[in-house]
Amino acid sequence: MNDNFFKNKKVLVTGHTGFKGAWLSYYLYLLGSKVMGISLKPSTNPSLFEILNLKNKIDNNYINILEKKKIEKRILRFKPDIIFHLAAQAIIKKSYDFPLETWKTNLLGTIHILEAIRKQKKKCHCVIITSDKCYKNFEKIKGYKEDDILGGIDPYSASKAATEIAFKSYFDCFLKDTKHRLVTARAGNVIGGGDWSQNRIIPDCVRAKSKNKKVKIRNPKASRPWQHVIEIINGYLKLAKKLNSNIKINGQSFNFGPKNSEIVAVNNILKNISINWPGFKWVKVGNIIKNETDLLVLNTNKVNKILNWKTRLKVDFAVKLTIEWYREFYENKKKNLTFIIDVTKNQILDYHKKFKI
Ligand SMILES: NC(=O)c1ccc[n+]([C@@H]2O[C@H](COP(=O)([O-])OP(=O)(O)OC[C@H]3O[C@@H](n4cnc5c(N)ncnc54)[C@H](O)[C@@H]3O)[C@@H](O)[C@H]2O)c1
Repeated sequence: MNDNFFKNKKVLVTGHTGFKGAWLSYYLYLLGSKVMGISLKPSTNPSLFEILNLKNKIDNNYINILEKKKIEKRILRFKPDIIFHLAAQAIIKKSYDFPLETWKTNLLGTIHILEAIRKQKKKCHCVIITSDKCYKNFEKIKGYKEDDILGGIDPYSASKAATEIAFKSYFDCFLKDTKHRLVTARAGNVIGGGDWSQNRIIPDCVRAKSKNKKVKIRNPKASRPWQHVIEIINGYLKLAKKLNSNIKINGQSFNFGPKNSEIVAVNNILKNISINWPGFKWVKVGNIIKNETDLLVLNTNKVNKILNWKTRLKVDFAVKLTIEWYREFYENKKKNLTFIIDVTKNQILDYHKKFKI
């Protein structure tokens, strides 16, 4: 794939065994980067990391981000040009069950990465992935801007807001006058093939469909900023590239989200799944997650203007791509898995050819 900026660059991806991290690591691998991953072992079965055989494509390390010394040692030995920090406890429901683990992983884990960057002598550019959930949610229709109030009630959202505050503090106190450059990225609900997390809408739907069961839906009226994983990964890559050419964005945060017309309710997503996968059915159940919001909209003028990034795929098409991926997996999995690697590769190549980085 064509992009000289990433070719041969040393890139660290934390969270490479997870859903977005695996797509990002594979995209970078296709761009010719020297990728190193740091994460826990894959926690889902199936796992996109395993399916893509990333263990044999990149420098793979299973290290807990809370092991500060080990993390620092590994990073300082690798000397990354670029870091994408994605490792997190990323599920809201789980954050209620394991609040301490969530806080430690999300907040302290990020601080460990920032500490390693402080110690690295070679210039490093870093994109820290937080979330659209970092804003104090007033169900605002106009959309949150990057300088809106941070907040979050559940441990996941609050820990992501705290991560943003820790980032700003480290930047202002220790990093802004160094050769390193850093930003944070706040994205909304990401969909795409290869996610098997619990308590996320698409994985819950495809798991149920693969067993010919009805999926239980908590909040069909909730609207979310859905976007395809390739779009968001492309945005992170654009951000890292821009960090190199535009020092003015150093220390800033960026929202990544779809156009308002693409912010649709869970209901619409369900209808779309059933169009792309006949026989898919759902049933509404009581809301089991406390404090879940009905509306979450991001203002994305900043990324539109500075990065020339916007979502190019309509939400219907993003769902179609996603369901195509899962159907390939479930309907052909007894065959050799290399065909699903090809599906993943072709989805990335198609997007990259049209929209570049
Ligand atoms: N998927 C979404 O819709 C979405 C939306 C907004 C933000 N995000 C953020 O994007 C990032 C990636 O999300 P995802 O959906 O790929 O999550 P995921 O749960 O699929 O992957 C999480 C990754 O973090 C790693 N990790 C977790 N705890 C760790 C620890 N203690 N030490 C080392 N590694 C650890 C896991 O091993 C895994 O590789 C997260 O920071 C998440 O908060 C995701």
